[in-house]
Amino acid sequence: MSAKRILEAEDVTTGYGNNEVVHSVDLHVDDGEAVCIIGPNGAGKSTVLKALTGYVPCWSGTVRLNDEDVTDLQTEDLIERGLSLVPQGHTTFPEMSVKEHLDMGAWLLDDETKQENLSFVYDLFPRVEERRGQKVKTMSGGEQQMVSIARALMIDPDLLVLDEPSLGLAPNLVDQVFELINKVQSAGVSILMVEQNAAKALANTDRGYVIEMGSVEYVNESAALLDNQEVRELYLGG
Ligand SMILES: Nc1ncnc2c1ncn2[C@@H]1O[C@H](COP(=O)(O)OP(=O)(O)O)[C@@H](O)[C@H]1O
Ligand SMILES: [Mg+2]
Repeated sequence: MSAKRILEAEDVTTGYGNNEVVHSVDLHVDDGEAVCIIGPNGAGKSTVLKALTGYVPCWSGTVRLNDEDVTDLQTEDLIERGLSLVPQGHTTFPEMSVKEHLDMGAWLLDDETKQENLSFVYDLFPRVEERRGQKVKTMSGGEQQMVSIARALMIDPDLLVLDEPSLGLAPNLVDQVFELINKVQSAGVSILMVEQNAAKALANTDRGYVIEMGSVEYVNESAALLDNQEVRELYLGG
């Protein structure tokens, strides 16, 4: 029996203004999978995520979330349907506490669900609970990324989408962030991430897509992509 398909993009094309940036991309994430999108800077990785998460409209093609056609829905509608996004860059608020970030992530929820999901997040990331009263500006880059991920988990999503989770982090913190993402996957949340750090991304996911100039050039199990000579030379430095 094949796994349930959480997200499926079929023939998705989009861009900005008159500039077509993403060309007929097919991509899917099955239940329990961690999937990465890698490729050079400017290839259109973030734009693919934006099209799949309702931030930019699809010019053509179809996006399905849990078997529902969500092509024309907005980001809020997708959040209500179990997709949660950790955008690229610093998305935390320096003066706010960790707990305030978690409350922000739970704005759609009733009190009971919020309490349940808070327990889920605290169980998964005990350090978030320990630091709940701390202002985010006093935390390291890796800890701030942890807070962003924890906030996104407050809706108890089926699918967590991350854009460049390791961007700007020192190498030892990069590993910590991937460990957190592995934990999230172990808790039953499917993962779709975009990463510049192709080697780490492939080492920490089940399948990968290589995007070049807005098109999918390679798709395979991550281990196979790591072994692929061409992929190694082009994207992994040999
Ligand atoms: N908001 C935007 N408006 C216009 N062009 C954009 C915008 N965002 C990205 N682009 C362009 O789309 C292309 C792909 O960008 P992006 O998806 O951010 O690539 P990646 O995430 O792979 O680095 C680039 O040529 C970029 O300049
Ligand atoms: Mg990007």
